[in-house]
Amino acid sequence: MKTKLSVNINKIATLRNARGGNYPNVIEFAQKAQDYGADGITIHPRPDERHIRYADAHALRPVVTTEFNIEGNPIPKFIDLVLSVKPEQVTLVPDDPNQLTSDHGWDTITHRDYLKEIIDAFKRNGIRTSIFVDPDLKMIEGAVATGTDRIELYTESFASEFAKGNLQEAKKFASAAKLAHQLGLGINAGHDLNLQNIGYFKQNVPYLDEVSIGHALIVESLIYGMENVIGMYQHKLAGSI
Ligand code: PXP
Repeated sequence: MKTKLSVNINKIATLRNARGGNYPNVIEFAQKAQDYGADGITIHPRPDERHIRYADAHALRPVVTTEFNIEGNPIPKFIDLVLSVKPEQVTLVPDDPNQLTSDHGWDTITHRDYLKEIIDAFKRNGIRTSIFVDPDLKMIEGAVATGTDRIELYTESFASEFAKGNLQEAKKFASAAKLAHQLGLGINAGHDLNLQNIGYFKQNVPYLDEVSIGHALIVESLIYGMENVIGMYQHKLAGSI
């Protein structure tokens, strides 16, 4: 089974915002990512719009011809944005406004009714839903009761253990994925996945519908693209036009 790759372009917006202009242009970047084979584009607008902005979500809608995934904490402003942009998928994440990045999944038992109501609204509007969860079997069981179509497994613990040489953590994710599949949920995964760890994750975790990758993919694009670009500058500086 092929797992889809959704490219998170928040870092491109962070670079743009650092200079105040419109370079790099997130629209062009989303187009290129799709031309180069991305199966989807993910954005994570935060209330302070410090990376991707709400206006970017609207501008990206006609450009994302693969699968558009908008993730975030479902505060009223976020819900309104998603309902008006109508991406193919929304991923609900319990992050605080000032958090650097997402660092935990939902407590699907405590927040069952809250999630259910929001998920119903998105589903009624034809938007597939996914909720961010830790690889905890109780939370996966709880996810079913919210009515969500999919879960997104929070992969930070897999990535940090893998980096230390501990491959055992992947087993938790495999069990979580098997249970989710048995219970009829689709399975996404994301956070801290990279070119080093993605192969092992894919080989050991079944039923993976989609991964969303941002931070490492952008850094790796710089690393693997740098040789080419420095060569191009040197060529110009040597007198070529
Ligand atoms: N999934 C969720 C819910 C996230 O918040 C993020 C980071 O924005 C990702 C996936 C992607 O993580 P990374 O940038 O480490 O690839």
